[in-house]
Amino acid sequence: MTDRTRLRALADAYGTPLYVYDLDRLDAARRDLFGWLPDEFDVFYALKANPHTDLVQALREGDGPGCRAEISSTGELAAALQAGHDPADILYTGPGKTAGELREAIGQGVRLFSAESLTDLERIGEAALAHDTVADCLLRVNDETARAATGVRMTGRPTQFGFDSETIAGLAPRLRAVPGTSLAGLHLFTQSNASDEAALIAEFRHTIDTAARVERELGVPLRLLDIGGGFASPYGQHGERTAYPALRAALETALDTHFPRWRQGAPRLAVESGRYLVGDCGTLLASVGNVKTGRGRTFVVLDAGINTFGGLSGLGRILPVSVRIDSDADAGQTQRVTLAGPLCTPGDTLGRDVEVPVGLGPGDLVAIPNTGAYGPTASLLMFLGRPAPAEAVVRADDVVSVSRIEHVRTYRKVEREHD
Ligand SMILES: Cc1ncc(COP(=O)(O)O)c(C=O)c1O
Repeated sequence: MTDRTRLRALADAYGTPLYVYDLDRLDAARRDLFGWLPDEFDVFYALKANPHTDLVQALREGDGPGCRAEISSTGELAAALQAGHDPADILYTGPGKTAGELREAIGQGVRLFSAESLTDLERIGEAALAHDTVADCLLRVNDETARAATGVRMTGRPTQFGFDSETIAGLAPRLRAVPGTSLAGLHLFTQSNASDEAALIAEFRHTIDTAARVERELGVPLRLLDIGGGFASPYGQHGERTAYPALRAALETALDTHFPRWRQGAPRLAVESGRYLVGDCGTLLASVGNVKTGRGRTFVVLDAGINTFGGLSGLGRILPVSVRIDSDADAGQTQRVTLAGPLCTPGDTLGRDVEVPVGLGPGDLVAIPNTGAYGPTASLLMFLGRPAPAEAVVRADDVVSVSRIEHVRTYRKVEREHD
């Protein structure tokens, strides 16, 4: 079956809007990412990119090395556990971890946390002590200098993330003494979506250099160094994942310089990735509901808008999306249109000046490529009360699962004084 007929058959069977995730493509992305890295590296899959259990499970299993899980909430913890992750393989991160969620995570067996501040570290320690255990903590470091020229920067400027690198030396005695915690290493995540290999390498070199300095200042040998990520994949646009053929050698050289025992696991090394692993396995299928003109501009109104795809402009989304039209209108003459979603807000625009066939009309199918990352769960899913899109997981021509996120309001009993 061609890709086009397969997608058309899935849309006919399950309706639109429909996300289709292809596990063969996901396997290829996982193999490629491990291939760009020295063999000693672990890869944490950032569930924020797509917490769908089937995808998380496929990234864990597969041929060759599997991914560990990086999570930032108890919802993601549930997804990771459902996907079969051993809690010992999970890294819990995030700047706003609450006492309640830390207790829950530790109760479920998670032992590795990224600590974003002294308060965060103390809170992790209290939760660990409540379970009579000790939590391994990576200090998240916000490096004072910015390197990367591409992608979305997370550090090098004031942010809510991590310890400012220049403060660590002064804090070291207190950081080493927090009950219930053991300083296990460092976590630096400086940028997202770096499509320039040279820039990513420069960033990682700088990260490794910083980590070696911070290790000296802390006075504690690093057991795990998570150098972050930034591996790029197109988002809602045509294109390929970035290749990083020079990365492995560059990392080996930088690590040999700063951590001569890294090949013996001192420290263990890791990266984190979301979009690179799942981005290109996804295609969003939407149907044209209406084509209309307004003051000389043509609007194609789809059944998928920013409620289905589009919550995360802050993570490097670049409008417009590009689309492949699966339509009897054929690709002869084309026109430029605005692609709108179904919501009652002018903000519900997926693209302006998008080229589509002139005869495009109601019922035609539109495919938006590279939508496996930051799809449903990063969108305004509940706005205007439309159902979430269906999500079909496939492997070649086999449908593995079809599901939909449901949101339900649950009432709590309210105690009133006169009751
Ligand atoms: C700490 C952390 N890890 C991993 C990721 C995943 O980023 P990406 O999907 O670009 O790989 C993010 C994204 O914001 C992040 O903040």
